[in-house]
Amino acid sequence: MLFQVEMTVNIPFNMDKDYVNVLKEKEKAMSQALQRSGKWVDIWRVVGKYANISLFNVENPGELHDILSQLPLFPFMDVKVTALCQHYSAIKNIDKPIAAPSSVASNGASQNGSASNHPSNKKEVMTRPQLDALLAKIESTEDAKKGNPRVKTIVNRIVRDLFYTIEDLDIQPDEFWTAMDYLTQAGQNNEWGLIAPGLGIEHLLDLRMDEAEVQAGLTGGTPRTIEGPLYVAGAPVVRGFARLDDGTEEDKGEIVFMQGQVFDTQQKPIPYAQVEVWHANLQGFYSFFGPPQTPFNLRRTIITDENGRYQFRSIMPSGYAVPPNGSTDVLLQALGRHGNRPAHIHFFVTAKGYRKLTTQVNIDGDPYLWDDFAFGSREGLVPPVKRITNIAEAQLKYGINRKVASIDFNFNMHPEKTGVFKTDVERAHKPADA
Ligand SMILES: [Fe+2]
Repeated sequence: MLFQVEMTVNIPFNMDKDYVNVLKEKEKAMSQALQRSGKWVDIWRVVGKYANISLFNVENPGELHDILSQLPLFPFMDVKVTALCQHYSAIKNIDKPIAAPSSVASNGASQNGSASNHPSNKKEVMTRPQLDALLAKIESTEDAKKGNPRVKTIVNRIVRDLFYTIEDLDIQPDEFWTAMDYLTQAGQNNEWGLIAPGLGIEHLLDLRMDEAEVQAGLTGGTPRTIEGPLYVAGAPVVRGFARLDDGTEEDKGEIVFMQGQVFDTQQKPIPYAQVEVWHANLQGFYSFFGPPQTPFNLRRTIITDENGRYQFRSIMPSGYAVPPNGSTDVLLQALGRHGNRPAHIHFFVTAKGYRKLTTQVNIDGDPYLWDDFAFGSREGLVPPVKRITNIAEAQLKYGINRKVASIDFNFNMHPEKTGVFKTDVERAHKPADA
């Protein structure tokens, strides 16, 4: 049965924005899965930013109700359902959906490819049953007693989604092999660490971890955010205080002191926690990447004191962009996006008995603060920057005869808990001697 469903989302203005974003991401993933399944067959019209008219192809009204009620934003939706007498194939070319603005409806459902060079009303080349039969044939070549079950499940799912995508978007052989060449080049350029955050995948992993922690009763910690691809292990270890910069940019930039304490979620200090910190220089480059810098410039591992306190001195980092004309840049340009990140400082915070915290703080005032191509900016991670312009005060507080910037920031760590995903993520990093 075919149903027309008008969905209007009304999110309360005072809802936590991070939580709303979590809901939207979940809604988007679910709506995409429903579209792949053929149940959510079309977004007929996008009506403003928070409403759309969609078509659902389901067995009966009960199934439609089950689907709609599982949507994460359903509690905030006004829904109007109309049963249609015609099959989708008979009406899909009538009154085609109006091209939506780039910001899609709040339910996050994607649009048909109206902006592509393909005719928007393409004919079906292969049916779902044909595709499914082909997929079944391919999967039947797998030996149930061999291989890795998890890999089988993941790869088969991705291949299935790809087959459906090729059919639904009428992907041409030229386009497919161009994409293969792109993927190969991206690997050779070692840019997957940028493409993954650029496509929001690394942020999605963060949101899923947030959600899993909430479900496990772990709340109140410092927000996590993406690691990025530029961590290098082995930075010098220091107690309590560290100077991160090697002095080469001292006279060109702003000196910044950052300090705070590491607490648990009950505001109890965690003594001798490990705070690994790394950031870019004034040109937006990290040591070990880009133009040569002294080894471990702007990288240190600080062990907090008995009260969980840490402090470091450095130069204020600059924002940066993906490599010009590199694989990430090419992709983002094709998507009509930019590849800029706001200035930020990365952290790994670890302590025995606590869940590892991977996060960043953003430098307030950066023009890209809330327009990060990597979706790393989060509320709670933008501490105010104090400018100390009184030299006597700077001397008194920091022992330095010039203006300085100062950032106070405390970390709150979750206690380790069994049964929740691990936060010490396995990920290859560039070795310091490479
Ligand atoms: Fe970074």
